Amino acid sequence: MAFDFATPVERRAPEGHYASQKWHRYAADVLPLWVADMDFQSPPAVIDALQRRVAHGVYGYGEVPASLTDALCQWSARHYAWPIEPEWQQWLPGVVPALHFAAMALTQPGEGVLTIAPIYPPFLAVAERTGRLAQQAMLAEPAAPGEPWQLDIAALEAAITPQTRLLLWCHPHNPTGRVWTSRELEQLAATVERHDLWVVSDELHCDLLLDEGARHQPLAAMFPELAKRTITLWAPSKTFNLAGLTSACAVIPDATLRQRFAAATKGFLPDGNVLGLVAAEAAYRDGEPWRQALLEVLCSHRRVLEERVATWPGVSLSAPESTYLAWLDMREAGLGESPAKTLLEQAGVALSDGAAFGCPGFVRLNFGTTASQLEAALERLDTLLKA
Ligand SMILES: Cc1ncc(COP(=O)(O)O)c(C=O)c1O
Repeated sequence: MAFDFATPVERRAPEGHYASQKWHRYAADVLPLWVADMDFQSPPAVIDALQRRVAHGVYGYGEVPASLTDALCQWSARHYAWPIEPEWQQWLPGVVPALHFAAMALTQPGEGVLTIAPIYPPFLAVAERTGRLAQQAMLAEPAAPGEPWQLDIAALEAAITPQTRLLLWCHPHNPTGRVWTSRELEQLAATVERHDLWVVSDELHCDLLLDEGARHQPLAAMFPELAKRTITLWAPSKTFNLAGLTSACAVIPDATLRQRFAAATKGFLPDGNVLGLVAAEAAYRDGEPWRQALLEVLCSHRRVLEERVATWPGVSLSAPESTYLAWLDMREAGLGESPAKTLLEQAGVALSDGAAFGCPGFVRLNFGTTASQLEAALERLDTLLKA
């Protein structure tokens, strides 16, 4: 079956109906390549399932159906060779809330929550918002322009103190798109064990590995001894473009850890979003052909972007191995302290500012859009960056 990733879908107007952060945050003439959602319609199988559920017309409190937990078990077994159980799953309305609940469940006020920058901005806010101690290490920068960012295990070790209790880990990584090597994951696992840390493994982007033959290895599956100290976070939201339907899942093999996490969430979360749960099940059950087609489109856009960046003096890109986000080093591009601000004001393209990820001078570009929209944005960027 052919899927349409080329025809632009109107997301700007009418505002009240389609209101989206991506398309309404900036002026109408700005091209938005910032927040991490794609401009593609979700898989037809998801839209069909939602239409059937909407037609039912009754939207009272829902619950997580066994058919959904079963669909995720099957997805995990098929795609990651990890046989998870239905009772390991706690569905909740987002990955970001889960990061915060994990901090509350697993640490005491004043204890350390460690993150590794650059990182998706909410990771950096979890400690402060939950009254914990914010601790931060840095990844190792590319050894040369275009080389990958890497885990700097010495820097991670150096950031750990007796207060450190929890590591928030992103796998694969937003914003660099890194798919960590087995070696990096082994180093990480050894450090987590040695310092007796809890770990939250945010694996939200794990179904968007771009390189041929790449296969996601969930941290808790790769290191069974780590599973008892790990909360794995998955969602269909990035892969199938369902972020507005707010459904995510914490996968927790250890029963005691599961109870602690559930106790921390009790009373703070709404019951399941009936539409989000229906969409999640349809995506995991029937979305695979669409996902395969999407991966081809994203690979092609990655190639276009790489070729373009090569023509921009002072800009470098370590090609993302996953997802639809590109992390660009613009520190030598002569665009001032905030390249994102300059590009917004002078080129009319909205990108995410690296400062929010803990790395000023960088920008994150979302290429999960139509080829024509991507090209239009690149042409605007050319005017400033080729100069
Ligand atoms: C790594 C990562 N975690 C979490 C989120 C947000 O997840 P949610 O919308 O389920 O809170 C994002 C969104 O871009 C993300 O990239």
